[in-house]
Amino acid sequence: MILPGATLGLLGGGQLGRYFAAAARTAGYGVWVLDPDPQAPAAAFATRHLCAAYDDADALALLGTHCAAITTEFENAPASALAALADQYQLPVRPAAAAVAIAQDRIREKQFFRDCGLPVGPYGVIADAAGIPAALTQVAYPAIIKTARFGYDGKGQVRVAGPTEAQAVLAAQPDLMPCVIEQLLPLAQELSVVLGRGVNGSVQCFPVAQNHHRHGILDVSIAPAEIAESLAQQVCSWASRVANTLEYVGVLGVEFFVLTDGSLLLNEMAPRPHNSGHYTIDAGACSQFEQQLRLVCGFPPLDPAPAANAVMVNLLGDQWHAGTPDWASLLQHPRARLHLYGKREARPGRKMGHFTLVGPDRQSLLEEAEQLRRTLGMSASD
Ligand SMILES: Nc1ncnc2c1ncn2[C@@H]1O[C@H](COP(=O)(O)OP(=O)(O)OP(=O)(O)O)[C@@H](O)[C@H]1O
Ligand SMILES: [Mg+2]
Repeated sequence: MILPGATLGLLGGGQLGRYFAAAARTAGYGVWVLDPDPQAPAAAFATRHLCAAYDDADALALLGTHCAAITTEFENAPASALAALADQYQLPVRPAAAAVAIAQDRIREKQFFRDCGLPVGPYGVIADAAGIPAALTQVAYPAIIKTARFGYDGKGQVRVAGPTEAQAVLAAQPDLMPCVIEQLLPLAQELSVVLGRGVNGSVQCFPVAQNHHRHGILDVSIAPAEIAESLAQQVCSWASRVANTLEYVGVLGVEFFVLTDGSLLLNEMAPRPHNSGHYTIDAGACSQFEQQLRLVCGFPPLDPAPAANAVMVNLLGDQWHAGTPDWASLLQHPRARLHLYGKREARPGRKMGHFTLVGPDRQSLLEEAEQLRRTLGMSASD
């Protein structure tokens, strides 16, 4: 077990890393962050920022010799770097490279879910050009082509009306990257759960969140989701099965689809804290980042006591089009908590921060969230 005073190594310095570093520093740990961006949001909370590529041998050697354990906040951190830190420097790497490698690759991830005996929507695998014709027959249309790797916030995804368009989209890629084609599913709801699994194998799930996306990016999360207890239990039990099968250590986010016929499917997982778990910072007994800290340090997960009702609204760079949004109005609200990630450049679609409303009555929180969106000049949620 790794005690306060030790230094932890973190691959990735985005907003998730910023919260992790804040939780670790609060609890008396040091944090060294590896991120090539000189303005990485986590750097402000880190004891040291190694500004280098994720596979930079010198930077990995520094982490390897100064840190007591390694974690990641960024699912595209090279699994090879995590493996090197575990093998060459004999450090606990949580989650392990093998689990991260599965979650990084949609083809491996979907197969893994199936191997766990869990359902995913119809899809075809396009590993190379020769695999295109067979893959296009695996789904009904419309469908979505997604790159197997490096996608996030809906990036690397193209919707296609039929196999002819799918063929054209794929043929237009000079270097065809491995992809999946997924049938566009009739979604009734999107749910997610964030869980923590300890080295001792014990699992604790945070309350299930209900998510609304806009243009493929998470817009609003509502927690706890207003769903039947049996459905919430199924979500937690399937996510736990995934974590147990992976022998996962750390915080894991698992995304689900509920279809209009009521069936539940897995969408994808993230080997790290998750945007839909941000409500835990303000609305629970422990945040997903404190949980990650405990697990990385080898302690069992905290029991996240039931959360108060929470509505979290993401703030994207689009909101900065007319200058800094009207924080004064937001902050006058007695239940609104503003989070900003310290990113200097507000690009469209870039996650800049979020606000959370916490209170006893879900319906009034939703109405207040809509009111605050209007105050900030945001469009109404879908
Ligand atoms: N097969 C599908 N059928 C219907 N909607 C889908 C499908 N795949 C994706 N979507 C919609 O697009 C959103 C983003 O898709 P997905 O989770 O695969 O992307 P991502 O780029 O990994 O996003 P993130 O990392 O933000 O979760 C989903 O949450 C859902 O709203
Ligand atoms: Mg997703």
